[in-house]
Amino acid sequence: MTKEGVSILGIYAADLQFTAKRQPAMGETVLGKKFALGPGGKGSNQAVAAARAGAKVSFISRVGLDSFGDQALAMWRAEGIITHVPQDEKHATGAAYIFIEQGSGNNAVLVVPGASGQVSTADVDGAMDAIAGSAVFMTQLETPAAVSAYALRKAKGAGVITIFNPAPAAAFDTSVLAVCDYCTPNESEATALTGVAVKDVASARKAAEALVARGVGMALITLGSQGALLHGRGLSVHVPVFKVGKVVDTTGAGDAFNGCFAAALSKGSTPEEAARFGAATAGLSVTRHGTAPSMPQLAEIEALLKL
Ligand code: RIB
Repeated sequence: MTKEGVSILGIYAADLQFTAKRQPAMGETVLGKKFALGPGGKGSNQAVAAARAGAKVSFISRVGLDSFGDQALAMWRAEGIITHVPQDEKHATGAAYIFIEQGSGNNAVLVVPGASGQVSTADVDGAMDAIAGSAVFMTQLETPAAVSAYALRKAKGAGVITIFNPAPAAAFDTSVLAVCDYCTPNESEATALTGVAVKDVASARKAAEALVARGVGMALITLGSQGALLHGRGLSVHVPVFKVGKVVDTTGAGDAFNGCFAAALSKGSTPEEAARFGAATAGLSVTRHGTAPSMPQLAEIEALLKL
């Protein structure tokens, strides 16, 4: 069977984005500058990024039987994403509080996965045709860690390239690292995973080496404004950031990177080419507001890579 595209297990959350000079302290009220409601959740954001980059995408999750759930399903339809997403009658669709710092665009996120947090190994089994038929499978740690690990093992067993984006930092059975072709933490997640304080390319290399020693094929550690490090299988490459314009909102930049790294790998790019493709996508996404809505189209990414 020819394998094609990307399958993603992850959550959907409605993003409630508040822009203000600072966050309120406990017991305090702060007047903010701007509010927006939009689609979010790391897995769903990655799915949108990959689909806009031209990959065939299947998304596995759950949403609630409510208006946020209906909006999610309509959004995936509009993006051309194939869904394996039942509407859960007992649990509401998840939501995220996103604070965006006025001026810097830096963010802080509190997410409640809601119905997506109920996704189970049975849901993974039910979507196995889509997973086994894809070239690349990716998941994160917003879904229950045991379900993410189960899906990674099933995907690897079906001969699919596996990407584990261990975000946010959370406890999991690290034996699953041995079935991950790629592991893609950011600085703080890499620090939590390895105990190496990751703050620059040199320390990222040490953390990446620790991940490879635990069975990961290649580590791809994202370093915010310092770019990313791709390390493993005899290669160690620093991928610089693409500075495209004024940074207004960094939320979802990691999802842009991961979604398009997966999309490029699924189309046969080398890991280094795919990492550059992901970095270009992230560079574009931070110049726009929102998470899923900030994902660029393929033509914009290609134009940036040609510069
Ligand atoms: O990575 C950003 C995402 O994390 C947001 O969309 C939010 O919903 C959380 O899942």
